[in-house]
Amino acid sequence: MQRHRLLMLIVMMVALPSALYAVGMEGFVDEVFLQTETVGKVRFSHSFHGTGCGECHPKIFKKMNNSNHVDMKAMEKGKSCGACHNGKKAFTVAENCTKCHAGDIFYRDKENGNVTFSHSAHTDMFGCDECHPDLFKAERGANKQTMEAMEEGQYCGACHDGSSAFSVAEDCESCHDM
Ligand code: HEC
Ligand code: HEC
Ligand code: HEC
Ligand code: HEC
Ligand code: HEC
Ligand code: HEC
Repeated sequence: MQRHRLLMLIVMMVALPSALYAVGMEGFVDEVFLQTETVGKVRFSHSFHGTGCGECHPKIFKKMNNSNHVDMKAMEKGKSCGACHNGKKAFTVAENCTKCHAGDIFYRDKENGNVTFSHSAHTDMFGCDECHPDLFKAERGANKQTMEAMEEGQYCGACHDGSSAFSVAEDCESCHDM
């Protein structure tokens, strides 16, 4: 490589990061995932929330992933996401759980019929902690569920036992799309 080209390269390698640093963009990624202890990761989209960095940094969030842990109670009092998600500026954290947390879960099964687990149908009746983390790790596909285990009262079978809810031993088609 010619000397002046090498020099240019070195200048660029130094200049680019410092330019990004100067405008506060270093380390910027569009999607961040906030890790909770019990209920999995929460996705946050920068691009959806716009370019007014100062609305959030550094007052509400330090610019480092997983460095701002609060619980939902604090959020309801206006901390973290709750600074805006208060039912006035944006939908409230006191409801709408599945907008930020967990959507539908799909289990594909060609032989027995796919199963759709609707979080929202269940979170209307139960708190997260009635299922996470004791019955299910809050991670898609992280739980080895068999019908046998369910019939012994594990996983879905903890409730779908024919008394709290329809039974895993009978109502196949209530879960399996046959
Ligand atoms: C609506 C609020 C909001 C706005 C506006 C916002 N951010 Fe963020 N930013 C966050 C949140 C939330 C996190 C994750 C914090 C955590 O995980 O504890 C984050 C994290 C970051 C991180 C750390 C990423 C990492 O992987 O460690 C950087 C860098 C960052 N933001 C830069 C910016 C820049 C630059 C802008 C403007 C273009 C911006 N942010 C606008 C909320 C916001
Ligand atoms: C605006 C988005 C948003 C909404 C709406 C929301 N959450 Fe959260 N939730 C989060 C984020 C982000 C975290 C991680 C916070 C952290 O680690 O700082 C979290 C953490 C949690 C946690 C673990 C921490 C704790 O408080 O024990 C639970 C449980 C939880 N949420 C349940 C709920 C329930 C139940 C609802 C509905 C009543 C809900 N969330 C609504 C964003 C949201
Ligand atoms: C500076 C204010 C502000 C903060 C802080 C903020 N949001 Fe939002 N967010 C908004 C606004 C405004 C909207 C759009 C209005 C609405 O949907 O009610 C929105 C919408 C959303 C949506 C809906 C996006 C979609 O695709 O429809 C999600 C999900 C969300 N926010 C998650 C979060 C999470 C998670 C946090 C915290 C880590 C957070 N927000 C922090 C202002 C904020
Ligand atoms: C009735 C039981 C039940 C309740 C209540 C429940 N979940 Fe789940 N959750 C599940 C099941 C089942 C899965 C899928 C696990 C698997 O695929 O192995 C899951 C998965 C998840 C995942 C991982 C999603 C992914 O895409 O990887 C998150 C995050 C989660 N739940 C959060 C929550 C939060 C937050 C609440 C409360 C607002 C909640 N769950 C309430 C049963 C429940
Ligand atoms: C904490 C208890 C509990 C657990 C765990 C649970 N369910 Fe449910 N589920 C219920 C109750 C209660 C109902 C409503 C009563 C009924 O329909 O018998 C219900 C209703 C349903 C319905 C009908 C409503 C709808 O979504 O359309 C389906 C399907 C379902 N559950 C699937 C599942 C699957 C799949 C799992 C495991 C991945 C599961 N459930 C785990 C308690 C639970
Ligand atoms: C409460 C909902 C629910 C009911 C009711 C239910 N299942 Fe399942 N079934 C599931 C879920 C969830 C899985 C696991 C999918 C995965 O993890 O990939 C599963 C998996 C299976 C599997 C593959 C795993 C294994 O154990 O071999 C078979 C076969 C099966 N179901 C048959 C049945 C039959 C037959 C019935 C009726 C007697 C039934 N299921 C009733 C939810 C249900």
